[in-house]
Amino acid sequence: MKSKFLPLNVRDLRRCSRIIKLSRSAYDYCASGSRDQFTLKQNLKAYQNYNIIPRALVGGLSSANTRTAILGESVDFPVLIAPTSMHKLMHQDGEVATYKAALKMNTIYCMSSLATTTAEDIAKHSDRLRWFQLYIAKDRERTKRLVFKLTQLGFKALVLTIDTPILGVREKDIINGFSLPNGMRLENFEDDPNAAVSGEHGIMSGLNRFFHTSVDMDLKWSDINWLKSITNLPIILKGVMCADDAQLALDHNVAGIIVSNHGGRQLDTVPATIDVLPEIANAVCGRIPVLLDGGIRRGTDIFKALALGANAVLIGRPILWGLAYNGESGVELALNFLKTELLETMILSGTRSIDEIQAKHIRRAI
Ligand code: FNR
Repeated sequence: MKSKFLPLNVRDLRRCSRIIKLSRSAYDYCASGSRDQFTLKQNLKAYQNYNIIPRALVGGLSSANTRTAILGESVDFPVLIAPTSMHKLMHQDGEVATYKAALKMNTIYCMSSLATTTAEDIAKHSDRLRWFQLYIAKDRERTKRLVFKLTQLGFKALVLTIDTPILGVREKDIINGFSLPNGMRLENFEDDPNAAVSGEHGIMSGLNRFFHTSVDMDLKWSDINWLKSITNLPIILKGVMCADDAQLALDHNVAGIIVSNHGGRQLDTVPATIDVLPEIANAVCGRIPVLLDGGIRRGTDIFKALALGANAVLIGRPILWGLAYNGESGVELALNFLKTELLETMILSGTRSIDEIQAKHIRRAI
């Protein structure tokens, strides 16, 4: 069915995908947060607590641009694609469509461990602009083999997610009896018998079983040293939510951190990411890149995150809505909306480059 409704922003993409494209259970799987979804809502609402303070008559705005570099790789704008699972649930072209859109828009795609496409199938499209998100397995040999393969395939960085010793519970998935359709699987665990999450017990128990049996829930800081000992790829920690953990990340010489609460899908009632960003950026003090995700839906949200100390942001759900709406073109549309809105915000606030966006450009709303 074709939509008569013309999407103008990423929230419109969500409406379009919900109304015309997705089953109730696929939509809820993406949209949900854990338990009471307090953090999910907080992530979105918290941006309203900041106002942008524009500067006038700065000159040179006709050449304003959003270009920047992350870990030495140039991108056209500081919005990266966060790792999200199972893109084939959203569109038959799955993760390949997402990656092709990232390449077109010249930004980085971080592939999820829980992808429905193999890392090989992504790697054959280009050697640029791709990271891989990792969970460390109890069976370290399995992780070693995966990391070796990812290095051979030319992935540029490993993003280790550190907020998921167990999966957060999203209650709508239980109500919907959500399951991965036949023929889809977590393609990067092909030799792990527990990765067949489409079993008769439904995906939640399947995914929970996968985490309980396969993913190491006893991870500790010294395991970062172990990971570093098996790869030369830069390691980025995803899920840092306080200054003390940011300091520990620095002590363990990681290449970057992502301030993230998993889009409100793990521990409910943790703060919005934008609210913990200042203390974390302060602790890191520019020594490594600080990225942020959670609730970014507008160019003004990106601007506020950059002003509060982030080097770039990542987006999760807006990519999935775009993918469901129109595959590769839909993902491109989502990225384009945010890029256009960021440039518009920069020009209207009197900032000509990403570096010029500073704390002085925002103020806590009264
Ligand atoms: C995620 N996220 C996630 N994170 C991760 O490290 N590995 C994963 O496999 C997934 N999978 C996943 C699936 C879905 C459906 C969602 C919505 C999220 C979390 C993701 O990387 C990111 O932290 C959030 O999505 C950011 O919040 P927004 O942009 O969705 O508000």
